[in-house]
Order: sequence, then C-alpha cells, then structure tokens
Amino acid sequence: MYKLPKNFTFGIAESDLQTVGSSFPIQYENASSTMWDDFTKKLKKDTPNKGSFKYNNIKEDISLINNLGVKAYRTSISMTRVIGKDGKPNKKALKWYRNYLSSLKKKNIQIHLCLYHWEAPNKFIEEGILHKDFHNYFLQHTNIVLEYLADLVDYYLPINELWCICYLAYYVGIHAPGYTDINRFFQSYFASITLQRDVILQIKESQPKSKIGIVNIHFPTYIRQNSDKKSYVEAQTIADEITNYIYSDPFYIGRMPQETIKRFKKYFPKDYKDIVSNCKLGDEIDYYGVNYYNGQYVKPSKNSIGFELDEDEIFMKNSLGWPILIPPESPPGLTDILHTYSQRYAQHGMKKIIVSENGTPAFTNESEIPQDNERIYYIDQHLKQIEKAIQKGVKVEGYFLWTLLDNYEWQEGYKPESAFGIVQVDRKTGKRTKKKSYYWYQSQLQSFYR
Ligand code: GCO
Repeated sequence: MYKLPKNFTFGIAESDLQTVGSSFPIQYENASSTMWDDFTKKLKKDTPNKGSFKYNNIKEDISLINNLGVKAYRTSISMTRVIGKDGKPNKKALKWYRNYLSSLKKKNIQIHLCLYHWEAPNKFIEEGILHKDFHNYFLQHTNIVLEYLADLVDYYLPINELWCICYLAYYVGIHAPGYTDINRFFQSYFASITLQRDVILQIKESQPKSKIGIVNIHFPTYIRQNSDKKSYVEAQTIADEITNYIYSDPFYIGRMPQETIKRFKKYFPKDYKDIVSNCKLGDEIDYYGVNYYNGQYVKPSKNSIGFELDEDEIFMKNSLGWPILIPPESPPGLTDILHTYSQRYAQHGMKKIIVSENGTPAFTNESEIPQDNERIYYIDQHLKQIEKAIQKGVKVEGYFLWTLLDNYEWQEGYKPESAFGIVQVDRKTGKRTKKKSYYWYQSQLQSFYR
C-alpha cells in the first residue's frame, strides 16, 4: 500500500481522437476530419482512423472504467465534432458526449475534460494554431461546451501540453502541422499561451465557479555526471527552460525564464512582456497537471536551440526507446520534477499538483490475460516516486494512469510497441481484453480505498 494522503484521487486518462478516432464521427456525425488525418496520410503513417473503436463501445468502456475503481476520469472533447461543418453546435456529437460523460458521472466518477488534445480540424492544416481563425474557433468551441455540457464537468483543462503543440509541431516537426522553424516555434508559443489565457478567462467569466487545471508534459533534465563543463550546464539550463518552464512561468509568475529571453529575444514580438504578464492567473488555476513519462539527458549543440539529447546517458528504455528514470540506476525523475515544480511556484499561488498522465508503452505477450509486467513495474516505481515527493513536502493530490485502452499514439500510430493501454484492443474488431496491469491497478485501488 502506498503512503498517500487520504484525499488522493486515482484516475485514468484518455483523449478523444486517440480512442474515438476520426472515421466514426465523420460517418455518424458528419464531423470534420482532423489535421492529424491529412498530416499522417501525407507522411504515409497510420491515420487516427477508428481509434480504439470507442465510438460504438462506450457501454463496455464505462464498465471497464467503473470496475477499475477509479474516482476520476480524464478525456478530451474534440472541436471537429463539437462545431458542425455549418459552424453551429453539432447536436449529434453533443448527444454522444452527454450520454458518455453523464453515465460516468452517475457512477460518482469526476470528469476532467480537456478542451484540446490536438484535434484541430483539417482546415487548419497549413498553419495549425497559427492560423488567423484558430483562436476564435477555439473560443467558440469552448462556448459550446460551456453551454451544453457544463453540468457534467468537474475540471476544465484548456490545452494539453503546450510543449507538444509548439516545440514538436513547429520546431521538431513530428507533430501536425510539422514545421522545423525556430521563428514559427516562438510564434506558436506566444499564440498558445495567449489562447490558454483567453480560454481560462472565458470559462471563469461565463461560469465563475468552474474549476480549472492546466496540463503540461515535463521532462526532468540532466547532464552526464562529472560534467562540470560550463557548456553542459548552459545546455541544461536552456533545455530545462524550453522543455519545462516557459510553459508554466507565465501562468504563475507572469514572466519568461531568463536564459530564454537572453538567447531568443530576437524572435519575440515587441509586446512580449505584456503578453506574458497578462497570463499570470495562478489564482484561477485549481491544479497544475504534470504529465510525465521520461526524463532527458542533454548536451550542448550548435543547432538553433542550443542543446540536443545526450543518448549516451540513457540507462533503461521503454519499447519506444524513451529513457526511463528509475533509481538506483537513474535519478528519480518524477520525484525530481514534482519537487522542482512545487518549489518554483510555492510563492506564486500554485495550489496543488496532480500527476495528470503517467504510464508506459510495452509489448504484450499473447495469452488469455495479456502479460505486461514491465508496465506494472513502471507504474509501481512511479507511484513510489510520488510517495517520495510527498515525503519531501510536495502537495501531490492525484494520479491519472495513461491509459485505459491501446489507442492511437500520434506519430507512432498503432504499432505493438506503442500500446499504452491496460486493456488490449484488437485492431481489426475493437474487442477488448484486460491485461494483467488492469487487474493490478484495480487491486491497488481496492486496497487504497478500502
Ligand atoms: C502526450 C499525450 C498523450 C500521449 C501520451 C503518450 O503526452 O503526448 O497527452 O496523448 O499518448 O503522452 O505519448
């Protein structure tokens, strides 16, 4: 049994496009296709397509979630479904969401609803969030959700992971719309923090009592041991800022971190200070969501951003090759990031942290109960790292396991090594089979809530 506070909330997290896919909503609701459909088609990769066949399987999924014993459920709501092609609320889609979410609510499961888990309509494919109409489109989407579904939502999460929608989409180029351009990266950064701010204000203005979490992915950042070289320390600082702090500092401190300003100011708009200070909304934010999977080792680089991954320092890897940080071989990545974050914002109104995603992809042996021992080990070790953070005084009040079903893992598609679910999904039929980790998580929750 883990030593966690009594009010600790265990949950499970999913997202709309990854599980519902795009073809069923297109077929049954006349929904738009998403930016990811065309982006991946062009690259000849797996498209979202049928997702985990959730569209027609919600009854079964509701019992899977309920029987697991979680107290909270996180998913997203897709603007491609909510806003019809005629620009009006898509009643069929809203009915589907009401049906699904209200059934979970009736089982006393809290709903944490993310308004954007990257389901932008395909009409924005060229520019993504930089498209001139994107901002207003998003606000319209938010309004519709507030009007039709507010009674079902416990927490609104405006945007999932600014790092992915800025850095991966405009600098690394592996997420839609796929640019590799530092200038566009900073444009997307300022556009997305402004958008997140406006969405928060819109929610609060329309329904002042509603609760809000902001959710970012984080990577504790290290350099190889015995490296006291100045260049390594500088690479670590800039990597830490660009992967972690720039997405949260504006919302709690109203400024950007120093090294980023020093190095990249030439890419900023003239009024950047106002943009950033206007984002300071700590009082309105009920929790800070940390999505955590792995850490990073970095080294100096001559590329435009000033650092790159130091692959030599990786100790353990998951099936997708991501560096897993578990002591004693590695530092306790999750403990470290939780501790750093809580210290950084302690004086700036951060109320509490929730680990809003954590999990691992793993190959699964075929058997009646698919065996995924590596996942169980990973989750157990990370819950222990949360215990450690709590012992150090960090206020962590929840944990959302990523994820229920094998689903669409973005640029990694549907291949076996990107299966993140505790329930296996047959790629042809959608048939669900509980893995060993499902039973394991269920038994942990049973003993915790007993
Ligand atoms: C993310 C997303 C999820 C992913 C998960 C595993 O963090 O990228 O929130 O959609 O599927 O993180 O990569």
